[in-house]
Amino acid sequence: MAHNDFGPSAQAEEGKFGVYIHWPFCLSKCPYCDFNSHVRREPIDEARFVRAFAAEIAATAARVPGRTVSSIFFGGGTPSLMQPATVAAVLDAVARHWSVAAGAEVTLEANPTSVEATRFRGYRSAGVNRVSLGVQALDDGVLTELGRMHTVREALDAVGVARAVFDRYSFDLIYARPRQQPADWTRELKRALAEAGEHLSLYQLTIEADTPFAALHAAGKLKTPDQDLARALYDTTLETCAAHGLPAYEVSNHARPGGECRHNLIYWRGHAYAGIGPGAHGRLDIDGARHATATEKRPEAWLMRVEARGHGLVTDDPLTREEIADEFLLMGLRLAEGIDMARFATIAGRPLDPARIAVLCEHGLVETTAAGRLRVTLPGFPVLDAVVADLAA
Ligand SMILES: C[S@@+](CC[C@H](N)C(=O)[O-])C[C@H]1O[C@@H](n2cnc3c(N)ncnc32)[C@H](O)[C@@H]1O
Ligand code: SF4
Repeated sequence: MAHNDFGPSAQAEEGKFGVYIHWPFCLSKCPYCDFNSHVRREPIDEARFVRAFAAEIAATAARVPGRTVSSIFFGGGTPSLMQPATVAAVLDAVARHWSVAAGAEVTLEANPTSVEATRFRGYRSAGVNRVSLGVQALDDGVLTELGRMHTVREALDAVGVARAVFDRYSFDLIYARPRQQPADWTRELKRALAEAGEHLSLYQLTIEADTPFAALHAAGKLKTPDQDLARALYDTTLETCAAHGLPAYEVSNHARPGGECRHNLIYWRGHAYAGIGPGAHGRLDIDGARHATATEKRPEAWLMRVEARGHGLVTDDPLTREEIADEFLLMGLRLAEGIDMARFATIAGRPLDPARIAVLCEHGLVETTAAGRLRVTLPGFPVLDAVVADLAA
């Protein structure tokens, strides 16, 4: 992995604040997905959702007033099922309760069907300036297997519309799929890179519990690559993307320098963010304490809760120093830039254990920099969880 530092320094980043908005509906449920997404036969009452989003934004802003929002992210589910007027109304509510930084990044996740692409101009007029499309695969047979409702042609057409309408766009692919070999994946990835703008998210297929894919997997009807093949696919991904000018800046995310997703950097760099909508998570700094928040997941129950109480919170826990420090490690070491060890010490009230770092360095899994950063090396990334567990212990 290329270890270029990018973007503003961590200090200049201090005080960043993001807003995440969750749209919990999809047209159908993909068999691999365990996101908080639901299929409804009846049309969604978007006006009712707008009122509830606005109420929850107001309630959150009352707890963390006076913040400047540096990024907003509509995630899902499928936010591209929202009417542009709904997106505009939610953005208005954010701007009524906080100030929004000039040039703030406003991303919306979209499914790449032709119907959804027709809304892109409306989203731009609403204030969205970046889209992230779930292309998933450039093979029609695989798209069918993944339960997707679009073809490769339709997805690439949607990418074309995104390119024409927005200065910034990204798309997602899922790899390490059944039967996939490094040579096939490299071909597919090169085709994707030819269509890419400044950013690509490339996820290894994860078998999530309680999904149809988990049942097939358990029955031996869906085979995922073994560890060695998965590693070969991962290495191919890093090399191919770096060779095309989009090095990995995070375990699954690749960008041209400067093209990183600024909203996701807020999570990975340990800054605060509000989570709005059903099942959204947040991290809020209130009176010197960091709170982990989560809202009711079921969309209709969330609506009723917000209508009754003004917010849908079901979790609002101040975190201990240790918990904040563990999270800082877990998130920060996903980044190629790694973490600032002095910032860790400030958060944890103790430095990282130099003996543990030395052992991990000897094994070539992490490295330290003259600027006082600790980062995971290329061989360390496939065993990131073990590295984090060792450092946090
Ligand atoms: C919230 S979802 C998606 C956006 C949009 N609804 C879509 O599907 O196009 C974000 C991304 O997570 C990835 N994803 C979801 N489930 C996954 C799994 N089990 N394994 C790997 N990637 C997964 C997909 O690439 C997906 O685009
Ligand atoms: S992958 Fe996207 S479209 Fe499919 S169920 Fe999950 S959120 Fe919905």
